Amino acid sequence: MDRECRSNSVSSQSALSLPKTRVSAALGATAEIVSLSPARRIHIECAHAPSHVAQNYLVARKIGLPVRVIPIDPENPLWMVLDKRVFIPLFEKLPFGPGTFTRFNWRGWEFADKYRAHEEMGDVFIMVTPGKLWVHLCSPDALAEILKKDKDFPRPLEIFEMTKVFGDNLSTADGKSWNKHRKITSLAFNEHNNELVWSETIRQSRSAVNYWTSKGATASIADDARTISLHILSAAGFGKFYPFQASRGSIDTTTTSVAANYKESLQIILDNCVLLFVLGTAVIQKPWLPKKARELNAAVHSFRAYMTEVYEAEKKAFSEDKPAANNLMTQLVRASLGDDGLSETEIYGNIFVFNFAGHDTTAHTLAFTIYLLATDPAMQDWVFEELEHVLGERPADEWAYTTEYPKLKRTLAVLYETIRLYSPVPIAKSTGNSDKPLTVDGKTYIIPAKTLLIPNHIAVHTHPKYWGEDSLKFNPKRWIQSTSARIDDEVFVTPRKGSFIPWSDGVRNCPGKKFSQVEFVACMATLLKEHYVEPKVFDGEDMGQARRRVLKLVEEDTGQVLLLQMFHPERAPMVWKRRSSEKMVG
Ligand code: HEM
Repeated sequence: MDRECRSNSVSSQSALSLPKTRVSAALGATAEIVSLSPARRIHIECAHAPSHVAQNYLVARKIGLPVRVIPIDPENPLWMVLDKRVFIPLFEKLPFGPGTFTRFNWRGWEFADKYRAHEEMGDVFIMVTPGKLWVHLCSPDALAEILKKDKDFPRPLEIFEMTKVFGDNLSTADGKSWNKHRKITSLAFNEHNNELVWSETIRQSRSAVNYWTSKGATASIADDARTISLHILSAAGFGKFYPFQASRGSIDTTTTSVAANYKESLQIILDNCVLLFVLGTAVIQKPWLPKKARELNAAVHSFRAYMTEVYEAEKKAFSEDKPAANNLMTQLVRASLGDDGLSETEIYGNIFVFNFAGHDTTAHTLAFTIYLLATDPAMQDWVFEELEHVLGERPADEWAYTTEYPKLKRTLAVLYETIRLYSPVPIAKSTGNSDKPLTVDGKTYIIPAKTLLIPNHIAVHTHPKYWGEDSLKFNPKRWIQSTSARIDDEVFVTPRKGSFIPWSDGVRNCPGKKFSQVEFVACMATLLKEHYVEPKVFDGEDMGQARRRVLKLVEEDTGQVLLLQMFHPERAPMVWKRRSSEKMVG
């Protein structure tokens, strides 16, 4: 029974994992999830007994690494709903409250803790839970090794089963099948596609900044960043282009036009993918489910129908010797028409996972950056200096991806610095089915089978050992070195292997890394070339106080939902102004 429970449980440590908090909130009660979806493998009855803690503790002790014990399984869905919301704050108030339990026994503690746990316990320690052992790592060498050896330290694939909504995909595949998925999908993530990402991002960002400037103050930066990100995915994924301010609406289930519903369908699916992962496509078809689930079901059907339409059209175009359009979907179809290609459902599965993995990752990163830059006018000037130097007076539609993008190193440095501190995607690896040796600081430890290995990327990204005394400060300049005063001589700093892993590393790293970099650089260049951003000053504040308030909001009102994100960005409206009309206040 214990083994069964363990293999069926779902880690909270991956972005693609199951964020039960939201699911439960969406449905009203966790118990409901269990009764609605026994097949989705959430076993509340596996809320392990204390005896498992004792057994696991004995196993952990033998490994020879520092150990901490937490009494409640972090994978218990009920606990995940209530941990930080209800119980942890209550316990913190008790005289004996603060301790291992309140510090570590909640989802997302790593962001609040930064590198401190590793400063106290060393580069690696074990968290004993009533479920699995969780080994937390903050050693660049060990992390580089684990991420390199995908066969020895595979991704715990059971987590990613949920993303099989439309078919097998990169995230759910393993071994030879994964090789095939990766080989074919990497043909689609090519330089032509990056060029499309570049030009569409410029188009979207120009409309966005014009809109924000016209508004005076805007509280919707984070939502607007999601719109930008979705529109870029639509363009790069399907060659479909939308104006920035297209409205979000609920899906019209009566219309027969599949293409007309495509964007709304995708938006509804991405907004509700957690619900979809938990319930699965079979359950959301039930007519007795609430309106939200029915709407989601309609969106799934519409999105699949759209993909089928594009698939059939592309096959026909191929048979008529017509050239392929330049987008991810058509590239996948063309690359799969031979003998060893992806099946139709695998193509749909991958297209969905690109959208899922590429949407909020970039959107949250853009939002974090805008807020951070609003607190730091000197940093905006520093980026502007590069933009003026590289792009001159030319209008944005003349900026060329191939020549301009590689020169915008300071702009890229802003991305690296944002995701060093606010890395959106947690990573989880596993020892798989057998014990594995793990070498840390020259000592080798035997880690038991079915142990979770958690690259503590927040710790390794903020540890002063690797980033200096100002490791917690947002300072994009740390990424740029120069031996002269010339911008052209500036060189991008390569971090020590294993010390910077926001896109993971090794064979199973993020295939959308370049996509997200191009998107970010094009967006920031467009926003900052003629504009700057500052916080709206509230009554009784001056600008300095407003900036400190915003920085505090970013640093303290951020946490892990599905990904790392600001909880209430709307509480700090932003003001965008044209550079030419007013000088920046430093
Ligand atoms: C700032 C932006 C992004 C960050 C920080 C990021 C980060 C990551 C990380 C850390 C992983 C590995 C997860 C793990 O091992 O558990 C991953 C996987 C993945 N990412 Fe990204 N990502 C970003 C943007 C994108 C974009 C734009 C796309 C596609 C358009 C994308 C597509 C994928 C896919 C398909 C996988 C699964 C790969 C596999 O299993 O082989 N990502 N990403």
